[in-house]
Amino acid sequence: MLIHTDITVEPLLRVAEILNKAMTRNLVDWNAMNIATVSSEGQPSSRMVLLKKIDDRGFVFYSNFNSQKGQEIELNNLVALNFWWRELKEQIRVEGFIEKLSSEESDEYFNSRPLQSRVAAIVSKQSETIESYEKLNEEIQNLTKKFEETEEHPVRPEHCGLYLISPSSIEIWKEGDFRTHLREKFTKKDKNKWESCFLSP
Ligand SMILES: Cc1cc2nc3c(=O)[nH]c(=O)nc-3n(C[C@H](O)[C@H](O)[C@H](O)COP(=O)(O)O)c2cc1C
Repeated sequence: MLIHTDITVEPLLRVAEILNKAMTRNLVDWNAMNIATVSSEGQPSSRMVLLKKIDDRGFVFYSNFNSQKGQEIELNNLVALNFWWRELKEQIRVEGFIEKLSSEESDEYFNSRPLQSRVAAIVSKQSETIESYEKLNEEIQNLTKKFEETEEHPVRPEHCGLYLISPSSIEIWKEGDFRTHLREKFTKKDKNKWESCFLSP
């Protein structure tokens, strides 16, 4: 997980500071976030993913482009993210649009993964129905063995890679006593201009 230290966009800098706090306190799955997508029928669905990088562009995670989320993103690129750390008593809500990152960036990430994770990405058809987990694990083991024996490097399948969420709004929520929570909402006005306000808890 990469938290860039040269972030200049104020709300992203604030998010990076909180992520840093969660990381240095070694909180379990501190970079886990929930991402919500919406189907073409307007049905929202959400799931947890792991944040891989934050920089001035926004939030990056890795996934399968053919999965349910991938298909929904194809039709509607508006998404929402949510982070919460019990120990920090902080929540972050993000709204924005999502797009795939370049093949170069996805390749770089894919190639940094352990062999078995790369093989699992090749074999697994995320979100499709499956007849047997045993068969899937066997396929992963066999293919891993083949790569180990031949010392060949697996190539990233085109349907796996990095997504970038560019935020249009970010809310930083801090728990207060007796529901006196602090809510600071940042809204992007144009290219690099953000405005902030405080919301009632
Ligand atoms: C803590 C946690 C982290 C996860 N990280 C990822 C991830 O980084 N990428 C991913 O595709 N799925 C990840 N998953 C699995 C997803 O929650 C989800 O099952 C999967 O992406 C399929 O979602 P979909 O069918 O809605 O596309 C994670 C699950 C958990 C519980």
